Formats: sequence, structure tokens, C-alpha cells
Amino acid sequence: MWQAKEIKEGLRTRLIGRQVYCFDEVGSTQDMAHSLAAGGVLDGCLVIAERQTQGKGRIGKEWVSPEGGLWFSLILGSSLAPTEIPALSLLMGLGVTQSVISETNLPCLIKWPNDIWIKQKKLAGILIELSATEIEVKHILVGIGINVNIEHDLLPLRATSLEIELGRKVSRLSLLINLLERIEELYLQYQEARSLLPFLEEINELSWLNGKEVRVKGELTTAEVSSINESGQLVIKLPGGFLETIISSEMITISSLR
Ligand code: BTN
Repeated sequence: MWQAKEIKEGLRTRLIGRQVYCFDEVGSTQDMAHSLAAGGVLDGCLVIAERQTQGKGRIGKEWVSPEGGLWFSLILGSSLAPTEIPALSLLMGLGVTQSVISETNLPCLIKWPNDIWIKQKKLAGILIELSATEIEVKHILVGIGINVNIEHDLLPLRATSLEIELGRKVSRLSLLINLLERIEELYLQYQEARSLLPFLEEINELSWLNGKEVRVKGELTTAEVSSINESGQLVIKLPGGFLETIISSEMITISSLR
């Protein structure tokens, strides 16, 4: 079971983890974070659970969250505009990728826009939600799920875990501390730059989709993924060499895994 004291003692952060709420079982840490945010908790609050019974993925999908994973949400103040959410999501993906590589050396990559993959399987996902009134965004809720010490038969088909990839268990506490420290650094740097530009080269080096062939839904021709741009959009190269930007992963299908 997660212990708030242990997490706080390990953290060298100013913002992230100023308050830590640990649960054995929740429906979803995102929902818990929504309620805590409404109740006025501090910016940087961490909500973490051992298991989620109704873990939420993107676009209404279920997120399988048995014991052994890292399932948490962060409550961040609303200094970012809603239009900056794609950038924030990629930054969080960068943080997850950097920390997994530094803790395990596994070749994980950012699969635009919100996933972390190892080869052809999903290791982690990021869900960003806004807590807003009719007139303003109050908080940004960053939900991160990483399959850490979970066996194959407990996961969906196209998912993997660090334990499966390494053949041994990994310290979840050490991964969590590493990740939260990176997230804080990236988030503070972003708040100063207000642009993805300082991070773009590394994001593109770690992009799973770069060079892959995709098809824009409803079109017959395929295109090659060129890069991720500073707004966090995907840039693809059409057959004539024309570049097109894609804002949502729902707009494309991946036609080759080459
Ligand atoms: C996705 O890839 O679809 C996003 C998955 C996000 C899962 C995390 S686990 C912690 C937090 N609580 C949730 O219910 N979802 C996010």
C-alpha cells in the first residue's frame, strides 16, 4: 500500500506532491482528484491508488488498473490555457518516457499524442481533464497510468508492463519519485517558455510514430509521419510532398508498423 510519508520523504520537489492522498482502492484517481480540486486542495496535489475499479482511459475507454501498477492523478493550477493541453500532454509523455528509460533502460517511446509504447505494445497512458466552471478553467487534472509489476494475463492484449519486458519486478516508489521530479522540472520549464520548442528535439527523437506510414481517415492515399510540431500536432507528408497537420489521433490510422 502506498504511504504518503514515504512518497513525501523521497521527493525533492517544490510543487508536485505538496499534498499526497493515498488510497488502497478507488473508482478512478481522476474522479477523486476532481472532488479534491472542488474542495480546494493545493496546486501540485498527488492522488495515488493501489487499484482502480473504474480506471478511465481516453475517449471513454476503460483503463485496466490492477494492483502492481502506477495509477495516479496530479492536480495542477490553471495557469495554462485549454489550447496548451496537447503540449502539456506531450510533456507528460516525455517525463514518463525519460523516467522509465532512466529506471529500466527499456526502449520506450512516446506514441503521439498520449501513449508510451515499447515496440508494438502500450506501456502507459496519459489522460488530461479540466475542472472548469462555465467561465474559467480551475484546475488541470493529469492522470498517468503505467503498467509496472503486472503479469500478462491481467492486461489487455496489446499492452505490456515493465515486469513483462524485464522479467523482474521494478521499484514503483523509485519510479514514481523519479517521474514526479521530472514532471515538476518539465512543467516549470514549460511555464517559463510557454512553448514546446525547448523540448521538441527530444520529443521527436523519442516519437514512436515518426517515419511511420499513416492514412488520413476517408482518404485513399497514405502519408508518412514527418514530425511533431511546437503546438503538439502531428505533421504528415502527403505523396506530393505537401505537409498536413493532424490535431487528433482519431483522424488517422496507422497503415504500416515499419
Ligand atoms: C489512455 O491511454 O487512454 C489514458 C489512460 C490514463 C490512465 C490513468 S491511471 C490514473 C488516472 N486515473 C484514471 O482513471 N485514469 C488515469
